[in-house]
Amino acid sequence: KRPPASLIFIFGGSGDLNHRKLSPALFNLFIDGWMPEKFDIVGIGRRPYDNDSYRTHLFNGIRQFSRRKEEQSELWKDFSQKVTYLQMDAEKDEEYQKLAEIVKEKETAYGEHPNVIFYLAVAPQLVPGIVSKLGPLNICADTKCTRVVVEKPFGHDLDSALELNKLLASMFDEKQIYRIDHYLGKETVQNILALRFANALFEPIWNRNYIDHIQITAAETVGVEGRGDFYESSGALRDMVQNHILQVLCMVAMEAPVNFDADEIRNKKVDVLHAIRKIAKDEVHRNAVRGQYGPGWMKGQQVPGYRQEKNVARESGTDTFVAVKFHIDNWRWQDVPFYVRTGKRMNDKETIITIQFKAAPNYAFPPEAADTWRPNRLTISIAPEMDIRLRFQAKRPGQGVSLSPVDMIFSYKDAYTEQEPEAYETLLLDVMEGDATLFMREDQVAAAWRLIMPILESWQDRAPVDFPNYSPGSWGPEDAEALIARDGRNWVTLP
Ligand code: BG6
Repeated sequence: KRPPASLIFIFGGSGDLNHRKLSPALFNLFIDGWMPEKFDIVGIGRRPYDNDSYRTHLFNGIRQFSRRKEEQSELWKDFSQKVTYLQMDAEKDEEYQKLAEIVKEKETAYGEHPNVIFYLAVAPQLVPGIVSKLGPLNICADTKCTRVVVEKPFGHDLDSALELNKLLASMFDEKQIYRIDHYLGKETVQNILALRFANALFEPIWNRNYIDHIQITAAETVGVEGRGDFYESSGALRDMVQNHILQVLCMVAMEAPVNFDADEIRNKKVDVLHAIRKIAKDEVHRNAVRGQYGPGWMKGQQVPGYRQEKNVARESGTDTFVAVKFHIDNWRWQDVPFYVRTGKRMNDKETIITIQFKAAPNYAFPPEAADTWRPNRLTISIAPEMDIRLRFQAKRPGQGVSLSPVDMIFSYKDAYTEQEPEAYETLLLDVMEGDATLFMREDQVAAAWRLIMPILESWQDRAPVDFPNYSPGSWGPEDAEALIARDGRNWVTLP
């Protein structure tokens, strides 16, 4: 079923996110027949495009970044007729009347009142200004049809996040606010719920009795990709852990939902955030490691160090790598550490979750037969490939007893012929349908900030002395290895 008539305004319409992600996502939804019967998209920006040049600009983005290359030209013609450009200075109050007029005009054309969606794909410092000018418009009082989509980062720290939430709450109802975390739109991340709660097989062992520890790795090979300016005020902890990684951790650790209502899922997830042990400032050095890449070589190519990137301070103390050990204080997870790490310019693009089960209680095989517990693990791979693999111990064929690990693999590529949608497609469709399940509620955002604040503060108090401390193409600083090796464990990478 298609969503109801929708009018989508994209602030930052001439920006990078729209070019790379939003427009290709909307176009793919159109190709797949998921866009509403009646819809329009209005890109809002300062640059002087007319409709034609704007459409050409977006089409270039689609040619480069869309997952579909075929069917483009014919369907693009139809789609692009629905796309217009509005040059507007979003800092001027009086300009916002134009938006109200467009809504009225479309309402007449559609013969019904559409969903009105404001997507804020702009730099974080512009968000409060836009929100406070949008809020007073009459159309925003319609809590059923008018929605605002806010991109991460949600604030720069706990205080600014609370302030932003307060501002949003003063203008909109919580159910109108869609805080996007694109990781939650990824197929494999959503599949964690199916794996855990649509099978009776895993859940009985998904706890401290059978699980030794859990790891989440989100490693990237790219550097800061020209975003030095933004990244200097962010760093890996804010950019990846506060949001994506903690959200994924919640999916892995949450209790079973009773139904799939948005608030039921979000309640279960926020329970996890509340149960994560807050790391005291003086314990940070034992539980968190930060890193920054230096210059070097990656796959035969010379790459600059972080401090040599554009718009980055020569003495920058910004973290481009983080590893943290979390504990969840509840009955299910007591004493099961969650090790997470993320970094730029690492050896591989690898986003994986590893559930490491405990060793067999009585290992009757001769010690020389094999390593005892490593193989018992489930790895959910989000990137580069989408798959789930169960690694277990098997007897090698032949005389005598020699054991070695084998993988039972469910791969999306082999199991399905259909192409999986991009995260932004799923999330944009959800916004049009009014389904907030995969979006962050304000209490989740605040709870996640509360967890990382002591780490941020402790790092702010103490400048890093050893930066840069890892080479491009490595798996991060040595201290990150030590963090997990101290517990007699090691980081898992894909074979
Ligand atoms: C974004 C971060 O939210 O996620 C980027 O701002 C990061 O720094 C990106 O590169 C990673 O997303 P993905 O989907 O490529 O894992």
